[in-house]
Amino acid sequence: MPTGGFKSSRFSSIHRLRLKGLPTAISCNFDYEVKISFMHYRNLGRSGLQLSELSFGSWITFGTQIGKKQAAALMHLAYDAGVNFFDNAEVYAEGESERLMGEILRETGWSRDSYAVSSKAFFGIRGLKNSLPLQKGNTRKHLTEACHQALQRLQVDYLDLYYCHRPDKNTPMEETVWTMHNLIQQGKILYWGTSEWSAQEIMEAHMVARQNHLIGPTMEQPQYNMLVRDKVEVEYHQIYRTVGLGTTIWSPLASGVLTGKYNQGTPDDARLKRKELQWIAQRNLKERHFEMVEGLKELAAELDLCLPVLAIAWVLQNPKVSTAILGASKTEQLEENLKASAAKDQLTPPVMERIERILNNRPEHPPF
Ligand SMILES: NC(=O)c1ccc[n+]([C@@H]2O[C@H](COP(=O)([O-])OP(=O)(O)OC[C@H]3O[C@@H](n4cnc5c(N)ncnc54)[C@H](OP(=O)(O)O)[C@@H]3O)[C@@H](O)[C@H]2O)c1
Repeated sequence: MPTGGFKSSRFSSIHRLRLKGLPTAISCNFDYEVKISFMHYRNLGRSGLQLSELSFGSWITFGTQIGKKQAAALMHLAYDAGVNFFDNAEVYAEGESERLMGEILRETGWSRDSYAVSSKAFFGIRGLKNSLPLQKGNTRKHLTEACHQALQRLQVDYLDLYYCHRPDKNTPMEETVWTMHNLIQQGKILYWGTSEWSAQEIMEAHMVARQNHLIGPTMEQPQYNMLVRDKVEVEYHQIYRTVGLGTTIWSPLASGVLTGKYNQGTPDDARLKRKELQWIAQRNLKERHFEMVEGLKELAAELDLCLPVLAIAWVLQNPKVSTAILGASKTEQLEENLKASAAKDQLTPPVMERIERILNNRPEHPPF
């Protein structure tokens, strides 16, 4: 356990939690000492950018489940705990999520050099189905216009991180890479990345960048949690080494399934009750997942941890994760989840092995 103060190294650094506004002991289902006193920082892949290993995102929550007051409370809680990266996208609540975050950022008065904020483009503000042909994709036109619009909504002069939210099979890679490079040259974005691209697509982007002396993608934003492991653990395995890929992983709790709260039916106020998210409910609410969760719950109790803390700490045990983006609709959830950074020390190799046995889904690496 770190013992205090601020320390920075090439690979990680720690930061003492500003305890203002937080009780000194926060319990979840168990009565145990708070261990969220420190935030750890990790390099975003091969870049020098040090992001907090826990970050905070606004999908489904800002502008959909929660309004500005609650969103502001959550952002303050995160920032006070040392979170320095806030994730957003054009399509979240049709731009409302960015607009809310922008207002909150302006009102906090936080120094612009103390946090990083992102946007993602591809789907168009109204989603793929409802956006006009020019309003979506990874084209020069859409990526540039979406960047300008995100800057306005977020009320910032530049985006620290800007992503192609999905691969676009209709746009030549040269066009996308040149556009992202030019946005960096113009000072509108600082780092660019991809989300849910294949390793092959990421490498194609790097090949184009190399041939033209352009800046390639620094990071990928994939789903990664105890239920979804292949991309992060197997598919990208080589490109962490070759191009130094960083990862800002999403849904560390599989939309809340890994909190155990869906095991006795879907709570009325939970995200997977929402009509528009039934596709995620169908994918995630499965008997074998509930069984895994029961096994994990027992292990978490033995370690005096809450299940969500165990699940997030497990994600952080993977050194290829640069930052895990947390989601929360309630402050109690975020208070709980922020303890994962300190709890990861409890996930020793024997504990990790026990988790593997419970999950029974370790992805296979090719033999050669
Ligand atoms: N690039 C992409 O394609 C992509 C896709 C998805 C997300 N993301 C990013 O990743 C971020 C995180 O993803 P996510 O929101 O899906 O993360 P998640 O951690 O898997 O799910 C978060 C949700 O689980 C529930 N929850 C969280 N902590 C809990 C706790 N301690 N107890 C009970 N319930 C709890 C809350 O929902 P309820 O209160 O509603 O139950 C919360 O909103 C997003 O905000 C977004 O920035 C990116």
